[in-house]
Amino acid sequence: MIKKTVLVVDGGGRGSALVKKYLQSKSVGQVLATPGNDLMLLDKKVKVFPNVKTTDAQKILKICIAEKVNLVDVAQDNAVEAGVTNLLLKNHVYVFGPTKEAGQIEWDKSWSKNFMKKYKIPTAKFNVFNSEKAGIDFIKNQKNSKWYVKASGLAAGKGAIFASNNKEAVSAIKEIKNFGKAGDTYVIEQCLEGEEFSSFAAVSGQNFLILGHAQDHKTVFDNNQGPNTGGMGCSSPPLVITSKIEKQITDIFKKTVNGLVKEKRPYFGILYLGGIIEKNGKLKVIEFNARWGDPEAQVIVPSLKNDFYDLAKKVIEGNIKKIKIEREKGYKVAVAAASKGYPNDYQNVIGKKIVGLEKILKLKNVEIFGAGVKKLGKNFLASGGRLFYVMATGKNVAEARKKAYNALSLVSIAGGNLHYRRDIGYRDLKRIE
Ligand code: AMP
Ligand code: GLY
Repeated sequence: MIKKTVLVVDGGGRGSALVKKYLQSKSVGQVLATPGNDLMLLDKKVKVFPNVKTTDAQKILKICIAEKVNLVDVAQDNAVEAGVTNLLLKNHVYVFGPTKEAGQIEWDKSWSKNFMKKYKIPTAKFNVFNSEKAGIDFIKNQKNSKWYVKASGLAAGKGAIFASNNKEAVSAIKEIKNFGKAGDTYVIEQCLEGEEFSSFAAVSGQNFLILGHAQDHKTVFDNNQGPNTGGMGCSSPPLVITSKIEKQITDIFKKTVNGLVKEKRPYFGILYLGGIIEKNGKLKVIEFNARWGDPEAQVIVPSLKNDFYDLAKKVIEGNIKKIKIEREKGYKVAVAAASKGYPNDYQNVIGKKIVGLEKILKLKNVEIFGAGVKKLGKNFLASGGRLFYVMATGKNVAEARKKAYNALSLVSIAGGNLHYRRDIGYRDLKRIE
């Protein structure tokens, strides 16, 4: 059998988890990544294109032709918005990932919220605004409460501002212009209270399969302190997702994929439901994303026993009913190791040596997924905000955490410049204690 070549459009930890998963497929001989990262190269079957941005559809198409790529996994949100899938499909490339139109459910929050309203998908009450004045006038007429003010466009996980009262909401509205074009339109929504989770489905038009659930830890410091980040760590499968909750999740996915078909934007690829379980046990959607989460992918993708190339191909070809999802037993915890100062100012850490990383690479019971790491000779250097993820499996959250944190204790950056949260998985840890 001639082995297949897969291209993953991503450079971070999520892309690293996908590259590893595709390499496990019996059909796959080589995996390419744009831009990829240096840790991916530790596997000789991987080739990266560090100068190709995830949004550069033309260059990605050229690589597909030159390298005879059999399947492209468009994994990064900005690639979806840039229409990478659309251009590749037009040129008859096999793509696992939504078109720009289907992906609007992520890259345009005002469209997404109106879509949810139209298809009766439970979500926080909201209003959409196009000028600073209109939002401020709205808030002035509301009784004092908690709000989220959100830039409608993509903002690398930083576009949602929490306001604990109306006065703070007015300041948040004023801040929205800092997001440039992404903030030209913005959403003001009611703040929900409850436990958050992320769920992932492989969607093939009107059909879908739930692949797994995880809980992210969004703020940079322990105990949910500090600014929001793209995600500081994940645990899976969350104990809060009971079969009753999963039924609600399934209903929401059903309404969503059917709605997208009705809107003539059929979805093919991974759909991310970010939700919250309110005190009354009812779910509300906080957001949809047109991709895997990062770091959610780092705990869910490795747990799938299915041949991922085969799964992606069946999704694209509409044969999803032939797939039976099989998951590994055990609980996974992934901890993000970041440059001190992330998500704000971490420039002084760039170029510094990450000491001890090679020790983790040799450990048998943990996996490592690279992101902002450069390899120079034998040295690993910091080259971004989120540097790498350490993922471990245990019989429960306590065991998985122990392995992940033991591994992390082997690594440092001089001057205390390596930062990670120490409480990843705390929700389920409390539940089993
Ligand atoms: P988003 O940019 O929509 O992903 O929001 C980022 C984070 O802000 C979410 O993961 C939640 O933790 C929080 N968040 C956003 N919207 C709400 C809401 N309406 N109620 C409560 N928390 C929210
Ligand atoms: N971990 C959150 C996200 O990927 O958006």
